[in-house]
Amino acid sequence: MAALGTTVATTVATTADGRKLVVRAGVAGDARAVRDLIDAVAGEPDVPLLATPGSIGLRDVKGLIGRGARDPRSLFLVAEVAGEIAGDLGGSGLPFAPSAHVFEFGMSVGARYRGLGVGSALLEQTIAWAATAGFTKVILSAFPHNTRAIAFYERHGFTLEGRRALQFCRAGRYLDELLMGRPVGSPLRPGA
Ligand SMILES: CC(C)(COP(=O)(O)OP(=O)(O)OC[C@H]1O[C@@H](n2cnc3c(N)ncnc32)[C@H](O)[C@@H]1OP(=O)(O)O)[C@@H](O)C(=O)NCCC(=O)NCCS
Repeated sequence: MAALGTTVATTVATTADGRKLVVRAGVAGDARAVRDLIDAVAGEPDVPLLATPGSIGLRDVKGLIGRGARDPRSLFLVAEVAGEIAGDLGGSGLPFAPSAHVFEFGMSVGARYRGLGVGSALLEQTIAWAATAGFTKVILSAFPHNTRAIAFYERHGFTLEGRRALQFCRAGRYLDELLMGRPVGSPLRPGA
């Protein structure tokens, strides 16, 4: 893969309802707001995330933000709408050499900020960053019942790559995992 040079751009745009939308690298001062946002999404009744309320602590979020800042193969982005943390996206390159070209991420947008372009801005910036950082594939996993998120990813060029049955046990309930991915940067050529 290409040499990793991973400056994280800050982008400024406008949400569908006309508010200022900034996507930038997360900093330590964002940790509490990001933790609260993930906690709120984790507690939603339609179960969009693997995390359960309270399972992601401040220290965990600080760790993810710090890794995004230090590790050229990791990224932690936040989206601000009118100065409030509205969404986050974090991920890293896979650790095994044969999969070093693959970047895996997870994301959340707060319920009151959805449908405004926040998720798209986070994802588009991530895809651009991943290509610049030398990755050639971006992946995520989702619950099969999270149809809105699946449609969102498909709109952004991801395809369904597989399903692992009963892969997760979340709050005592077994759930399948859907695997999704898309190429980024230079095209992947299948080998023999
Ligand atoms: C999936 C998610 C990241 C999309 O973010 P978003 O900011 O709503 O996305 P955008 O506004 O850029 O795009 C919205 C589009 O996606 C779809 N969509 C996805 N989730 C939606 C939601 N909860 N409400 C409304 N539309 C949603 C809509 O069809 C919408 O299409 P449109 O633009 O044609 O109206 C966000 O809904 C979310 O964080 N959900 C909860 C957590 C989650 O599911 N994370 C992903 C786990 S794999």
